Amino acid sequence: MAGAIARAACFRNGACLLYGWRRLRLTASCMTEPAIRIDNLVKRYAGSRGEEGKLALKGVSFDVPRGQIFGLLGPNGAGKSTIINILAGLVVKTDGDASIWGFDITRHPRNAKRSIGIVPQEIVFDPFFTPFEVLENQAGFYGIPKGERRSEELLAAVRLSDKRDAYARTLSGGMKRRLLIAKALVHSPPILVLDEPTAGVDVELRRQLWELVTELNAQGVTVVLTTHYLEEAEALCDRIAIINHGELIADKPTRELVEMTREKVVRISVDRDIDAPLREPFFRKVDAIGERTVEITYDRDEATAGQVLALVQRHGYAIEDVTTREADLEDVFVRLTSMGAGAP
Ligand SMILES: Nc1ncnc2c1ncn2[C@@H]1O[C@H](COP(=O)(O)OP(=O)(O)OP(=O)(O)O)[C@@H](O)[C@H]1O
Ligand SMILES: [Mg+2]
Repeated sequence: MAGAIARAACFRNGACLLYGWRRLRLTASCMTEPAIRIDNLVKRYAGSRGEEGKLALKGVSFDVPRGQIFGLLGPNGAGKSTIINILAGLVVKTDGDASIWGFDITRHPRNAKRSIGIVPQEIVFDPFFTPFEVLENQAGFYGIPKGERRSEELLAAVRLSDKRDAYARTLSGGMKRRLLIAKALVHSPPILVLDEPTAGVDVELRRQLWELVTELNAQGVTVVLTTHYLEEAEALCDRIAIINHGELIADKPTRELVEMTREKVVRISVDRDIDAPLREPFFRKVDAIGERTVEITYDRDEATAGQVLALVQRHGYAIEDVTTREADLEDVFVRLTSMGAGAP
């Protein structure tokens, strides 16, 4: 479905095929740049009535490699949208640098903006425009001549052709989000940034959105997304950066990040109520799941599941059921963000 959108966004033989982009000269050095470079970025929001203001970014640096799906994760208020809004030109940085597709956002703001399509966290539309008009207006904003616009094609790609002439205010939340994605793709940018694209979206639509993202990426579009669904980040992203309280606390390929933890979890059901805490030196964590079920976290370098079971039996319980699982991104995320700043 996304093939048509992405086709125009692809770069063949290093040349940009896009209308409106022809004036963009991509030099050899530019082509070796990462898709996005964030260098020691600082943002302090102004305070009101003499207050100090919020230091939302405390010197964040990371690169988004070209061609990847890159996840930017972090708890509420970590600074994710601040980074994205700085890239979008909606928030002015306090210090540091950022470049998009090799273009510095301060020195070459026009080229930087043309290289990126951003789907903001907040849904904002003029409610009286139709989806078709929203896309046409956006194309006009980018100076794309009428004959070269792809509004119909984009509406079809996000499955909104039947809503072409409806007022935007009559669209459902999920439809509005899809329209925002089409709007971000109007100028066929090589980078698409999605800030919480699946927040409040039903399971089926979420699946469709991820399909769209994966297809776009397969066609060569670099994708950056923020999400609170860690399972999805783990499944979709090639690389993940985690920020917490305005500081970068991890930036690694997804697989490496998940493997950072040596922890394993074993869930054990026993034959009678557990009346006293199960304490052993290499039990990292013991969570009561029910009267007779516990989840024990241990380090796989220190013990085996068999040893864990033997210790539980030594406390006088007969084991009735056992399941084990590897730690996942959620475990790593919780561990890193609860450690505060300074983690790897
Ligand atoms: N316009 C603003 N003025 C003052 N403070 C702001 C402004 N925008 C954001 N902040 C503050 O900056 C910090 C980072 O906010 P930001 O929106 O970047 O977080 P986030 O990681 O996107 O969070 P969420 O997951 O909830 O979307 C928060 O403490 C927030 O309250
Ligand atoms: Mg946000």
